[in-house]
Amino acid sequence: MPLSLDVRFAALEAPQSHVTVVVVGDGVAFGAIGKALDQRTGGALARAAEAAEFKGKAKSAIEVLGAPKLDARRVVLLGAGSEPNERDRIALGGALLGVVTSKKSAEVSVILDADGVAAPTAAAEIAYGAVLRSYAFKTYQTRKPDDETNGNGVKTLIVHTAKPEQASAAFDALRGVAEGVAFARDLINEPANVLGPVEFANRLAGLNIEGLDVEILDEPAIHGLKMGALIGVAQGSARPPRIAILQWHGAKSKRAKPVCFIGKGVTFDTGGISIKPAGGMEDMKGDMGGAACVAGLMMALAKRKAPVNAVGLVGLVENMPSSTAQRPGDIVTSMSGQTIEVINTDAEGRLVLADILWYAEDRFKPRFMIDLATLTGAIMVALGKEYAGMFSNNDKLAHEMAAAADATGEPVWRMPLAKAYDKMIDSRFADMKNVGGRHAGSITAAQFLQRFVRDTPWVHLDIAGVAMDSNKTDISQSWASGWGVRLLDRLVADGYEKG
Ligand code: BES
Ligand code: MN
Ligand code: ZN
Repeated sequence: MPLSLDVRFAALEAPQSHVTVVVVGDGVAFGAIGKALDQRTGGALARAAEAAEFKGKAKSAIEVLGAPKLDARRVVLLGAGSEPNERDRIALGGALLGVVTSKKSAEVSVILDADGVAAPTAAAEIAYGAVLRSYAFKTYQTRKPDDETNGNGVKTLIVHTAKPEQASAAFDALRGVAEGVAFARDLINEPANVLGPVEFANRLAGLNIEGLDVEILDEPAIHGLKMGALIGVAQGSARPPRIAILQWHGAKSKRAKPVCFIGKGVTFDTGGISIKPAGGMEDMKGDMGGAACVAGLMMALAKRKAPVNAVGLVGLVENMPSSTAQRPGDIVTSMSGQTIEVINTDAEGRLVLADILWYAEDRFKPRFMIDLATLTGAIMVALGKEYAGMFSNNDKLAHEMAAAADATGEPVWRMPLAKAYDKMIDSRFADMKNVGGRHAGSITAAQFLQRFVRDTPWVHLDIAGVAMDSNKTDISQSWASGWGVRLLDRLVADGYEKG
């Protein structure tokens, strides 16, 4: 789905739209145009603010209806708070769109001339927040009018700012990231009857973004690579597996080592023979959230023409019970040669990732590998739906992740890896087993993955709590937030785009 909100940047002048948002600083500090509008109304805006005890606190808003002598019939005063930072401004843009929702106006103007929101980058960030917020998944709601399913009827946001050309240029890169986020959200929201492994792969193959190379490995190719762990998961489904490999060569040297992202793409997880209980199982259409994030990230990097070489790999399978499904007790041989006793067929994500991690390191010799997976329910026991769990063999990369998390507001919390936990997955019959018992479920899953990583700096993100059934925020009202696209885009932008 293309982004549903169109953004235009215009000079600072009195707006024509029927709905106009005037952003004010803390203490209802108007900028020059805001002040002029207020004066034209004979001070009606300031009076309304006072009557409503509106103070201009961040994201607080009041609406002034029918103020005299203005084209705008509805004026919204929106507070920017004091000294908003980048994250605050993006959230402000989201809040802005939330406030003007259902004002029955397809076009909304916003005046950005107050302290903290007047710079071109600020205008771009506010527009970015609004665009992220505007996303709605409405493919299957055929009976609701467009503006209802859209979450709002706003089609165009006209951003009035002192330097519209500069703001527009700054927004171009951000729009690329927003498109990546929307793509990830779409993939996750899509039901599994529509989006199986083949359909997911086809969507990537059909992207047609300049410079983004897409390679699809089909079943014979996957067999040829001897990916016994991934194949074991896929074998219960009538729908064959796929692996998609996305490559973006944006660095000066096309041969410079790439950064590498790997996603769990279980398009539906029934649990297999170790079948899940019925309650909430519908959420398992989102068990490809890691793969969706990788896809959205690669789109973002390509759209903003990031000066970096990057590769994204996603392992796409459906985990089903059937007469061809793998059984508890089966022993599979992974591409690495290590054997795995499958104690629980519902611990399938790690089996898929084992082979992809091994393959990725082997083929691409990347600067780092970051995998994302809706891997364990246990990560929600530990961290709830606020933080993703982070595991790493490399302190520097873990610190860079924490910094990017702080900058974007997609938080990660580091969890331990240690030999003592590793013993919990030793097997009586094979080199390892795929579950470690009742305790420390997210850690033993990460220990399992680590056995398929050799010496590359590596981060594993357990995103079971954040990828789906996501918290609603200023910038996402969607079941799938697209978590991780902005985080990893930022990690790359801040540390891996020079040289
Ligand atoms: N996809 C699930 C994890 C999950 C659960 C994600 C709930 C999102 C919401 C994963 O494949 C799984 O089933 N994990 C098992 C592992 C267990 C069998 C060791 C789990 O967490 O129960
Ligand atoms: Mn499972
Ligand atoms: Zn799963």
